[in-house]
Amino acid sequence: MGKLLIRGGYVVDPSQNFEGIADILVEDGKISKIERNIPPTGEEIIDACSMVVAPAFVDPHAHLRDPGFTHKEDIESGSRAAVFGGFTAVVSMPNTNPETDNPALIEYQRLKAERVGLIRLYPAGAITRGREGKELTEFGTLKGAGAIALTDDGTTPTDEALLRTAFEWAADLDLLIEDHAELPSLSAGHINEGKISDLLGIAGRNRSAEAIAVARDGYLAQITGAKVHVQHITAKETVELLKLFKEKGVRITGEVNPNHLLLTEEDVLKYGSLVKVNPPLRTEGDRKALIEALAEGVIDCIGTDHAPHAPWEKDKPLDQAPPGMLGFQVALPALVRLYNEGYITLKRLVEVLSTSPAKILGLYPELGTLKVGTPADIVIFDLKHEWIFTEDINPSKSTNSPFLNQKLVGKVFYTIKGGEVVYRYRG
Ligand code: DOR
Repeated sequence: MGKLLIRGGYVVDPSQNFEGIADILVEDGKISKIERNIPPTGEEIIDACSMVVAPAFVDPHAHLRDPGFTHKEDIESGSRAAVFGGFTAVVSMPNTNPETDNPALIEYQRLKAERVGLIRLYPAGAITRGREGKELTEFGTLKGAGAIALTDDGTTPTDEALLRTAFEWAADLDLLIEDHAELPSLSAGHINEGKISDLLGIAGRNRSAEAIAVARDGYLAQITGAKVHVQHITAKETVELLKLFKEKGVRITGEVNPNHLLLTEEDVLKYGSLVKVNPPLRTEGDRKALIEALAEGVIDCIGTDHAPHAPWEKDKPLDQAPPGMLGFQVALPALVRLYNEGYITLKRLVEVLSTSPAKILGLYPELGTLKVGTPADIVIFDLKHEWIFTEDINPSKSTNSPFLNQKLVGKVFYTIKGGEVVYRYRG
């Protein structure tokens, strides 16, 4: 493997509390030097002047739809979309067809991603067989096959006794539980229950569905010692609970997805089913609470909840369209917007996209860092670059994003995995 020299970039590495202009030398797939003015010796050179150089992004929550829904996305197109967004490490969700509730599918996903070679794919297995909430999967076997976490994402198990056992097993195996914390009984509708659902005369999903599920998860984590990660937090009550459990020393973490940082329920009036997502877009007050919690560290990281769906699936009324939006492509622009509006520092931007999720997933200190000797997974981005998210450059098979054909600010120019350039923006 050749050498690579990244010159003159503004290096931001929260893991070393480092920010400043430096060169990075990559040798044999690893970071071998970070210094000013490293003399070139014939290796490939990337000019990173006026760009940010950071540890590549890590996503604890994405839907690659493979197997079963490969008309929406597959491991190859999903990998391309991930590196387009600066991600080299991705946790895939088990709501595939068949469901990823057995070791054979975990291995299939891992091996296919390895063959594609663009990202490090870490499949999550299902907590229950068929994600039906009735019978637990074989946690140890799933972990042995390479499952990094377990989740029934898309839904949550509703049998508390079963879930308690799941948490006990997960604690024994030191396996992370990621939870789609939203009780189905209180979220039978299609958008946030509130002003807009009233206006449209459509059934809503009550915000308490999330808070009650998080209260349940927090207490179960407390009595079992399990590690639980709350997926796609949307409501301010959830933030309050997360803070409470953290203060009690419970092993709980939480993520927010980029679309919930950018949009509110009002956007349903403009975009309709395109912005239908579970849990739903909520109010401006919630959006502000999420931003504040992310800035302060109550919410730990970003999870893209990249959820591709075909146009003919999304192009249906609110009560029939599937929930979800593209996530990889808009993650950096969402965070750059918060940075430009003064809510977060550049260090926090990198932390929530890289170091923090790597720690939650147990991938740190291999990933989420630029420490010398670690694998050279690096992202190089321009904070100021304006671009239009057109179909031509979109690597996903699907286009379900309200940001399609819109101007975004903040663009990944290079994504590097293990010293190899796996994405290069050609403008
Ligand atoms: O909006 C969502 N879409 N939320 C989920 O939890 C599942 C996801 C999907 O699979 O499309």
